[in-house]
Amino acid sequence: MNRIGVLTSGGDAPGMNAAIRSVVRSALYHGKEVYGIKRGFQGLMEGNMEKMHVGSVGSIIQRGGTILQSSMCEEIFTDAGQESAVQELRNTGLEGLIIIGGIDAMKVAGKIVNKFPSIGVPATIDNDIPEVDEAIGFDTALNTIIEYIDQIRDTATSHERTFIIEVMGKDTGNLALWSGIAGGSESILIPERKDDLENIMDRLNRGVEREKRYSIITVAEGVGSGFDLAKKIKEEADIEPRVTVLGHTQRGGTPTARDRVLASRLGAYAVQLLGNNEAGRLVGIKNNQLVNHDISIVFTQKSKIDGNMYSLSKELSI
Ligand code: F6P
Repeated sequence: MNRIGVLTSGGDAPGMNAAIRSVVRSALYHGKEVYGIKRGFQGLMEGNMEKMHVGSVGSIIQRGGTILQSSMCEEIFTDAGQESAVQELRNTGLEGLIIIGGIDAMKVAGKIVNKFPSIGVPATIDNDIPEVDEAIGFDTALNTIIEYIDQIRDTATSHERTFIIEVMGKDTGNLALWSGIAGGSESILIPERKDDLENIMDRLNRGVEREKRYSIITVAEGVGSGFDLAKKIKEEADIEPRVTVLGHTQRGGTPTARDRVLASRLGAYAVQLLGNNEAGRLVGIKNNQLVNHDISIVFTQKSKIDGNMYSLSKELSI
């Protein structure tokens, strides 16, 4: 396999550029040609690609976002769209494709793999990819979030206020759970445990009784709007929470060293697997070891909340 393509798809994640850099440099190191496909699957279907060289990925390891850009392309989820993409790949003489992205991108990889050799590289701040300990971008997003939690805590303690901080994660709670633990949030609400809301109300009321009126509640967007939660708390407790929605700030920023190393390892590993004609795989790290799974697990398995981390969050927010 001597000519491969690489693209980024879905929500961008800090570290995607480090992964692109690793794919390009590793492929060139092994004597392959590598083509960067611009604007994700939309660009692929439009034949929007350029041959990459060592200098194409110079000085990007420290940059957030993705130099190949990304897109949310609905058509690629249709058979016709996948056929069109595969035809474009074949027309340009590419023999393999490395797809860097989140769960939707991995599912597209799982769909086209029967028609074209592909490898999925998990990159999403949501960290919601099954059988993968950590997706590229998760660590950087966690560090971004705790910077904001620490800043909010300054004003919360100064004014004895309760703050709700709404974080991303789509319909999963990993980002909220881990950032809540790291930020020392008094309460964490995740979609996988919505019934915690009653416990949170009890804890807030107990706090008021012991004159502790300030607290930080980290809520995952999949639970609902932070403003709706504030309204409910105001109705049921003698508290008027303020709300901060972190939004897309969680997607930007320079990737951490951890994410840069993770991305570099996974990008090179994806090239290695394609070089060995081992396509149809989802690469990842498990217990700090490089692993690869049949990409079809993205259809049969859903990422789970780590029960130990959830228990820890309950223990530390007594
Ligand atoms: O999947 C990454 C993510 O940031 C989610 O956490 C979030 O819900 C979604 O993308 C936002 O999508 P968009 O950038 O299209 O608004």
